[in-house]
Amino acid sequence: MPDAPQFSPTARELDDLELIAHGALPNGFNAPGSVVTLTLPDDVASAALEAGAVELVDPEGLPLARVAWPAGTVTPLATPAYGPFRRLYLSPAQAREQYAGRTFVPVTGPLTRAELAELAPLGPIALLALVGDGTPDLSAVALLRATLAAARQLPEAAVIAVPLAAHGDPEADHALGVHAVTAYAGADPVRALSGRFVEGAGADDDAPGEDFPDEVAAIVEADRPARDAQGLVLFFTGLSGSGKSTLARALMDRLLETGQRTVTSLDGDVVRRNLSAGLTFSKADRETNIRRIGWVAAEISRHGGVAVCSPIAPFDATRQDVRRYVEEAGGAFFLIHVATPLEECERRDRKGLYAKARAGVIPEFTGISSPYEVPQDADVRVDTTGRTIEEALDDVLVALRSAGYLDLEVGPATTAEPGDGPGDTPGEEPLKVLFVCTANICRSPFMELTARRLAGTAGLEFSSAGTHGWDDKPMDAAMVQVLGDGIEAGDFRSRAVSRDLLDRADLVLTAEAAQRSYLLQDHPDLFRKVFTLGQAAEAIGRLEPGLAPTEVVERLASARGHADPALDVPDPYRRGPEAAAAAAEHIGRLLATVLPALSRTNR
Ligand code: ADX
Repeated sequence: MPDAPQFSPTARELDDLELIAHGALPNGFNAPGSVVTLTLPDDVASAALEAGAVELVDPEGLPLARVAWPAGTVTPLATPAYGPFRRLYLSPAQAREQYAGRTFVPVTGPLTRAELAELAPLGPIALLALVGDGTPDLSAVALLRATLAAARQLPEAAVIAVPLAAHGDPEADHALGVHAVTAYAGADPVRALSGRFVEGAGADDDAPGEDFPDEVAAIVEADRPARDAQGLVLFFTGLSGSGKSTLARALMDRLLETGQRTVTSLDGDVVRRNLSAGLTFSKADRETNIRRIGWVAAEISRHGGVAVCSPIAPFDATRQDVRRYVEEAGGAFFLIHVATPLEECERRDRKGLYAKARAGVIPEFTGISSPYEVPQDADVRVDTTGRTIEEALDDVLVALRSAGYLDLEVGPATTAEPGDGPGDTPGEEPLKVLFVCTANICRSPFMELTARRLAGTAGLEFSSAGTHGWDDKPMDAAMVQVLGDGIEAGDFRSRAVSRDLLDRADLVLTAEAAQRSYLLQDHPDLFRKVFTLGQAAEAIGRLEPGLAPTEVVERLASARGHADPALDVPDPYRRGPEAAAAAAEHIGRLLATVLPALSRTNR
């Protein structure tokens, strides 16, 4: 006969197993009509059928019991020896031996002052804490903690933990409870608390406002934090290019600004470079990828943190798994469907992947050759088509606020008051200039670093990004070579341009006309602030002197000439040291015209 397959049961099945092994429940799983069932996956079930048994193991693989399959009769092999308050998990035989002659009192929730007053005159008692996997209001471990605290207020009370799990059938659970309690009490009396007994799942015995002793109240309070202090998993799902990552990052930034929570990002692309490196886009690997994200996110939520996840996560069943992991860890799961339609994602095609997918170069591409199952359980749905990130983010912020999880300011991130132009008087918000080239490793970082050096602290702030940038690459070595004296590339890292970065800039200067067109194609509304560096230098040369920096930016919009490709700074990438030096010189010349006009001290 083949070996019995091994199987690690669910928490509920483990609880049932323990009570069966201890003789507190009738021996056997899967009796007709019983709620005490064991569910095996198909492959395990068929192996078990062949072997006539299945071996139940704990999560670490220690064999706990052999179960005849499909009859369900249990032969115990070992009892788990760990877990908080393990010493309180007695078998009925041990309980009867240690506490013979006491009154046995089943406890299903935190004890109130009134209940303690009811128990005090009974003499020595044994409190049977029916913990299972906890109640709707209290985790198993907190129920034990609360029962121990209550016991300290009584003249003589022992606490025994009974892992009686709820099965979702109140009547059947009640019958199981009676069975278990009778096994523990033996011939001794059982005293049910007025108004409650073994009520199992759904019993609403802890109405809010009940009068608990202080110590018990503190335990109850700490175990179920209010929504705004609870661990939280914000899960963005949607097609590639739908705006998930951008929205997720914008939300994270808002949250980080408040400094109130710890935040971890689990972005799809980033996870695939580390935690899930090596996985493909097959259905099985995508499921593995999402379950890994879910597992990590659940752990973060267990510690009260916020995890912001933004993978495609195309399958409903895997998203449900993540929801379950998080809820089992005591966290809240908040699902955001970034519902930008396929046509729009494909039109953007930021990474050029849709074109490759259409051409059959990338197989199993979500939306093209692999399905995306639209979530029916999203807490909020956002379509980013034709909207700014700020606008789309507001929908998420409003939903999070009304659900009671996070109360972040809705509306534009607080900067200067509306109407206040940046950079006009010292002490005001600096004027923000974003330089853009293709990969954000040669020209735009050179512009950013050089401009910062040239402008000093003259009310200007510089950053850079690439239209087709890979995230997180250092600056190109040839361009580092031609940086001016005392300018260091330091830990510069490349990044891709995003609507959010564009929105934050007062002025966007590109190296080439092609990059300007690229940006304006996706964001036509930004034409008043996106120019090529050459075009800006040319236009500034034609403006009257003495204008305030904000006026210069405004006037650029009307005074801008044609973004003539002849004014471009050509790409020096991989063209050798001369090309790098020429680009450096060209950029230096253009910045020397542009920066003084933008700087409030050089007016
Ligand atoms: S998921 O399906 O497993 O959730 P995930 O979010 O990690 O996907 O990765 C998606 C990213 O990988 C996309 O943003 C895209 O850049 C890239 N990618 C590469 N191949 C594929 C593919 N076949 N389908 C979808 N995305 C792909």
